[in-house]
Amino acid sequence: MSFTTVTWDRDAVVLIDQTRLPLEESYVRLEQAEEVAVAIETMVVRGAPAIGVTAALGIALGLYRYNQQLDGPLTPFFETICQRMARTRPTAVNLFWAIDRMRASFSRCKDQGNAAVSATILAEALLIAKEDEEACRRLGDHGATLFTTPTTILTHCNAGGLATAGYGTALGVIRSAYGAGMVTRVFADETRPWLQGARLTAWELHKDGIPVTLIADTMAGHLMAQGEIGCVVVGADRIAANGDTANKIGTYQLAIMAKEHGIPFYIAAPLSTVDMATDDGSAIPIEERSPLEVTHIRSIPIAPPGVEVRNPSFDVTPARYIHAIITEGGIARPPFKQSLMQLMGADHE
Ligand code: MRU
Repeated sequence: MSFTTVTWDRDAVVLIDQTRLPLEESYVRLEQAEEVAVAIETMVVRGAPAIGVTAALGIALGLYRYNQQLDGPLTPFFETICQRMARTRPTAVNLFWAIDRMRASFSRCKDQGNAAVSATILAEALLIAKEDEEACRRLGDHGATLFTTPTTILTHCNAGGLATAGYGTALGVIRSAYGAGMVTRVFADETRPWLQGARLTAWELHKDGIPVTLIADTMAGHLMAQGEIGCVVVGADRIAANGDTANKIGTYQLAIMAKEHGIPFYIAAPLSTVDMATDDGSAIPIEERSPLEVTHIRSIPIAPPGVEVRNPSFDVTPARYIHAIITEGGIARPPFKQSLMQLMGADHE
């Protein structure tokens, strides 16, 4: 991968600006926690694991600045930043998982001096980032074992290095399988309305020399019927205990079409995306985003002014459509309630 999604650099959080890709590869330097929260809300950074990593670094940044300016008690301030980060986006559970990890780290070290607490909190955020990239590499290698002959893969949205601390989830599987000679071509759905597939997945794969063909979302069923799609691999924003999976809007219809055509449908996600506290998909909060994402493309209007719009940003694919969930701990198969519990248990040993 020849870009960096999120890093800590000289007392600032640095993000590749995903709102400007693919036209411009530029980086933003954020020096305040509030700027980090706004960057998550406005999708300068997006993708479930990347949001979690960025929020953790944003919390560390907030504490660092507080210590530079004030010498008061840290606990109320720490909690205020955690709550601010938690309000940025509701669906990806990695955000809440990362904030909880920061809270646990804070409660272990909070009685040390302020400077020591700030250093420990930064170290925890950097560890979350490191572990996320390692998890992606491991899950990518597990996923590659699913392929026994070279095949074509359809993916949706962007579940790549841009959506994680590096390597990617669905694109991590694709990278590992491609390295093993098992991928002949990737079809990337453009992913209306925000166009993560066209703008980010096509950019990321093309840059890495992995053969990618961009299609409009409306073309997937036709290509499946023509026998051009070997399997579907997508990421996830939240996986409920029974395997129901929230991912970018449009994933659900792909799963139904894949079943109709007898095509395997795989989810790739780190265990930080599994939410054992949510029994099934009906309890997953679905973010509704601005109507402007639907009525405009890059500020150009494409719909009549004043028309009513809906913009649910995610949908839930019921577990019955999912052949396997690929994680860093191994591959979960149905029934997911048992297989996910086993993987989560192993993760916590
Ligand atoms: O709205 P986004 O771009 O944050 O949505 C991202 C997705 O839906 C991804 O598929 C998901 O987060 C998996 S990322 C490894």
